[in-house]
Amino acid sequence: MSDAIQIRCLQTIGDREIRGLSDVLIDCVEGGASVSFMLPMSRAKAEAFWRSVSASAARGERVVLAAEIILAQPENQPHRGDLAKMLVHRRARRRGVGAALLAAAERSALSAGKTLLVLDTASDDAERLYARQGWQRCGLIPNYALMPDGTPCATTIYFKFLHT
Ligand SMILES: CC(C)(COP(=O)(O)OP(=O)(O)OC[C@H]1O[C@@H](n2cnc3c(N)ncnc32)[C@H](O)[C@@H]1OP(=O)(O)O)[C@@H](O)C(=O)NCCC(=O)NCCS
Repeated sequence: MSDAIQIRCLQTIGDREIRGLSDVLIDCVEGGASVSFMLPMSRAKAEAFWRSVSASAARGERVVLAAEIILAQPENQPHRGDLAKMLVHRRARRRGVGAALLAAAERSALSAGKTLLVLDTASDDAERLYARQGWQRCGLIPNYALMPDGTPCATTIYFKFLHT
């Protein structure tokens, strides 16, 4: 991981951050990532998403590092968090940003009292990253979601126990 990569926890998500996060989300969806959105991907959809995330973060339900962890869970799963979105702009990929984000997300979840993280992914690039950082692959659910172009896609579930 390069020293130049700094992972910042977004305490407040203002208009500037919403614009930047929307750029990354639009780029990832247009690049074919299966991250909840379909093509055509509009700025309005991206900004509405990040505004709702911002409101949720202000309520203390999630932490946004651009990798996003959902902290609010049912009362019988207080120890669990969901890694909800890991997005790196295509221009910034393959330099260790994803690895740095993932490590920061794990540290952030641990400091919020979480000892178990769960995620699902439809990306081979992401699967290699998770496996490298010690995540356990549970299995694959076929036909789980749609790619941005409408093609059905599977998702793979991963988990990781966190330790101090
Ligand atoms: C998955 C994702 C977050 C990875 O981000 P990233 O910043 O490229 O991740 P990294 O740079 O840490 O690792 C990617 C690769 O670059 C390599 N790499 C890291 N630093 C490097 C460097 N300095 N020089 C050369 N290669 C490097 C890694 O070894 C890794 O190789 P591999 O994929 O062949 O195993 C990114 O591809 C993405 O945003 N995808 C679209 C959205 C998506 O599908 N997200 C997952 C949903 S859960």
